[in-house]
Amino acid sequence: MGNPLGAIGTYVEVLRRRGADPEVVTGVTREVERLDRIVRGLLDYARPHEEALAPLDAGAVARGAYGLLEAQGALKPVRARLEIAPDVPRMLGRAHLLEQAIVNLVLNALDAAPGGVVVLGVMAWAYESRRAVLKRSSDPEQASFPRPPASRPARTEFVAGQPGVLAYVADSGPGVPSEDRERIFEPFFTTKEPGRGTGLGLAIVARAVHDMGGVVWVDTAREGGAAFKMFFPAAGR
Ligand SMILES: Nc1ncnc2c1ncn2[C@@H]1O[C@H](COP(=O)(O)OP(=O)(O)OP(=O)(O)O)[C@@H](O)[C@H]1O
Ligand SMILES: [Mg+2]
Repeated sequence: MGNPLGAIGTYVEVLRRRGADPEVVTGVTREVERLDRIVRGLLDYARPHEEALAPLDAGAVARGAYGLLEAQGALKPVRARLEIAPDVPRMLGRAHLLEQAIVNLVLNALDAAPGGVVVLGVMAWAYESRRAVLKRSSDPEQASFPRPPASRPARTEFVAGQPGVLAYVADSGPGVPSEDRERIFEPFFTTKEPGRGTGLGLAIVARAVHDMGGVVWVDTAREGGAAFKMFFPAAGR
């Protein structure tokens, strides 16, 4: 798919040099670039993940992803914060898949909360299908944050209290309306204007998380917006 798109790009360049209408050439170039982004996203989504899972330090991966986004200046428009709790168990995964999932979630948070707050965190967590309140390492001992319970996907393999890792991205944006909370993970679901979003970001996250044996869901953040949460069972010792 990359090759025909590259060829179209070359032909367009030839047209430009031969004095074709610049407005049309610019339009074609823009749409070819957009198509290129969509194709890349689809390839990411469709690529079989065949490498074996290996024990992973999710905190280190999150730190790396955060550093990458910071170095690119992507975090400048918000007050961004990294919360890596101590004593996070190892999970089974692949660093590049987890990194991509985190980056996609942070990019969404940046879009949702310009000028606001974006938090990326990793902590130890025991899976509980109905516990809505969850504390971060930075919270005081007695803190409680009453919020409406999120619908959490049940994964039959997870027993209540299963120890693992919770990685979360929270923001102060408008949040996700409850009627959209399942649909946002479907490929091509987007509320962004045409040309801005392809709607593949969360589909890629869902696939990566599933392939690493985890679950992902969206909740309400205490920052006021969306909190995307990924749970992975701890790697057996
Ligand atoms: N942090 C968030 N706050 C509010 N809504 C969100 C958030 N993250 C995702 N969404 C909603 O979910 C939709 C789908 O997100 P997804 O990342 O799959 O696609 P996209 O961001 O629209 O496009 P792409 O990621 O492909 O560029 C978004 O268009 C938006 O409506
Ligand atoms: Mg996105």
